[in-house]
Amino acid sequence: MSQPPRRISPPLRLRGAVIVPGDKSISHRAAILNAVAAGPATVENFLPADDCLATLDCLRALGVSWSLERSGDERARLSLTGRGIGGLRESADALDARNSGTTMRLLAGLLAGRPFLSIITGDESLRSRPMGRVVLPLREMGAQISGRDGDSLAPLTIQGGPLRGIHHRSPVASAQVKSALLLAGLQAEGETTLEEPARSRDHTERMLRAMGADLREEGDALRLSPLRQDLTPLNLRVPGDFSAAAFWLVAGALHPDAEISLSDVGFNPTRTGLLDALREMGADITVSSERVIGGEPVADLRVRSSKLKGIVVEGPAVVRLIDEVPALAVAAALARGRTVIRDVGELRVKESDRILATAQELRKLGARVEDRPDGLIIEGVGALQGAPCDSRGDHRLAMALAVAGMVAQGETALSGAEAVSISYPGFWQHLAELGSG
Ligand code: S3P
Repeated sequence: MSQPPRRISPPLRLRGAVIVPGDKSISHRAAILNAVAAGPATVENFLPADDCLATLDCLRALGVSWSLERSGDERARLSLTGRGIGGLRESADALDARNSGTTMRLLAGLLAGRPFLSIITGDESLRSRPMGRVVLPLREMGAQISGRDGDSLAPLTIQGGPLRGIHHRSPVASAQVKSALLLAGLQAEGETTLEEPARSRDHTERMLRAMGADLREEGDALRLSPLRQDLTPLNLRVPGDFSAAAFWLVAGALHPDAEISLSDVGFNPTRTGLLDALREMGADITVSSERVIGGEPVADLRVRSSKLKGIVVEGPAVVRLIDEVPALAVAAALARGRTVIRDVGELRVKESDRILATAQELRKLGARVEDRPDGLIIEGVGALQGAPCDSRGDHRLAMALAVAGMVAQGETALSGAEAVSISYPGFWQHLAELGSG
């Protein structure tokens, strides 16, 4: 199964334009919400990467018909026909969310209200990630849902049925938990109100409103009324994934001969924390043509070779860059002085333990990184040295280590490089193009 390590040598220059793939979070939501809307919809620039394909396969097993017209590795047009929320059917087999937390948690919320049995499982990584955060509030809503290990781990078994709205104050800022409860709340009797410690990505809220749901913001809380009629199908174009662009922002800032343009990148303020952090570190990044496409902010970005300095990243702001911490750690490894990243304990339960994995793998390349229970302390060094390292099957770690390899001296041999296919199948192709630019 496992492939030979991918060898990365620092390119002489990193120059050119990249069109990053469609946003992963938005692609999942566009598929799931349209699958339960009343009628056909087309989603342009859908991300046909492993995680989103897992969502599509689950939807097919639930009786939703769709087709995917691909152009290249990472662009596709998704056409699907929803038959309303009542159009979902019991799957004949367990639903396999594979590596995708978004698939498992959002479907758990959706299926909690459907009058049939669902079992949702996933790969070894996903089966070790915390599910109690959705199981417990869904139970409070009246769902019959259980899991392994005291209901904290998948596979999840759901006997769907009537739900009631609740008020839930989530202990973690998680868009997956929030979205699961919104999907359940659409089917509940009475209103559902949600609060979270910091504002997580709001793609579900934007899309639900565009599809006709009655969802309001009241102070820091969200208030959702149950559906009175099915959601209206939404044709949309998925913006480029800021979390994919993030790797090029770091690579471009660190490489001594770089200028990279990134067009049509999602610029939702709940996602762009890395841009602010890199700018504070001194990165030369320009933002132009800010606009709104299909209810989501989009912009063009350009990054040039920069001299970076260490910063402190902490508090509620970390939720805006939570997926970008491995990439930020690479930037910090070569910045002047110390970078402290705190309050990111959530990273321990992502596709890998990203605190430990980032620290251990970057140390192999000569970085001075200390792992702490809730973050990282990084002392910048003058140079990284290419070395064997391992993604541990985590797509974001694979790409962060690839960026480190692009700016290290000598060759880096990255095991588990194929993990990029989870969110960015064309990553290596884009690296080759920029390197010959
Ligand atoms: C996501 C939410 C975040 C994020 C993940 C995608 C989503 O996870 O880290 O990559 O699409 O809702 P949490 O909800 O666990 O914070």
